[in-house]
Amino acid sequence: MIDKIVNRMGFLRKLPKSLAKPLFNIFIFIDEVFWKLRMKFFMFFLSRGSSISSVLSQLENNGYAVFNQYYDEDQIDQIKRECTKLLDVLPEKEIRSKEKIDNLILENGLVIEKLKESIKIKKLDKFNNFFKNIAKNSKIKIISKVYQLTSGPLLVYNLVHDGAYKHPATFTSRGGKMIAGQPHIDMSTHSLRCALALDDIHEDNGPTVVFKKSMNMKRFKKNHTNIFLETFGFKIGDESGHNLDNKDIDYLENNSEKVKVVCKKGDLILIDLKTAHYQSILNKGQRHILWYYC
Ligand SMILES: [Fe+2]
Repeated sequence: MIDKIVNRMGFLRKLPKSLAKPLFNIFIFIDEVFWKLRMKFFMFFLSRGSSISSVLSQLENNGYAVFNQYYDEDQIDQIKRECTKLLDVLPEKEIRSKEKIDNLILENGLVIEKLKESIKIKKLDKFNNFFKNIAKNSKIKIISKVYQLTSGPLLVYNLVHDGAYKHPATFTSRGGKMIAGQPHIDMSTHSLRCALALDDIHEDNGPTVVFKKSMNMKRFKKNHTNIFLETFGFKIGDESGHNLDNKDIDYLENNSEKVKVVCKKGDLILIDLKTAHYQSILNKGQRHILWYYC
């Protein structure tokens, strides 16, 4: 929420960096204080054993959480069916022939992003009532409201595969590994991104890797400030912002637990975007995820 408000303050671009920087630090501080208060307040009133309370507590402590069995087997099978059906409404030839596509807007309202064997189909919540209802699910709305004061997530279906997934819109003759993501931090303020596992996510099919508790590390406070600075067009010189440099990565390797977030089909993974994380390589198989951009 604070992030959205700050991003509308266009005048910040015109300030000297020496003035903008402390202002960004104040915004980050305000976000931190009110986020902590909200978390404490709601966890006090929610019953200790409740799933939402457990998720909020994991997020607060570790920067990520797993909500076990967010949907049951039948529901998740139905969601996966509806997601894979989306591949049938894509312009096959165009999608298949290009290795990289940046936000191609289709007439039906869907938006496509593709990088090799990874395809994202966006704006599902605007596409039909099935996905509209999935986006309205009350548990994620409550968590999102508490966490960042906003709700109404955008839904994105993401299929990543090793070349073996057979569909006219995705088939490629080329197998091989996916590109690994660079370790990074996405946001300056507490914000959520959630991934609903439509299949089991295990070591081999590209789990997200998070550096546990990294969002609270003193070292990365500068990154949170720099992300705001970069967003508003300020130069940050040799310092790291979104993307972490080798020194940061070495620091994390030595001071944080690196967790491959594996989970079962139907589980929901939640990540605070102030946490350092990256997408690991898919070695084999396929990974189907419904992302919630909260
Ligand atoms: Fe990310």
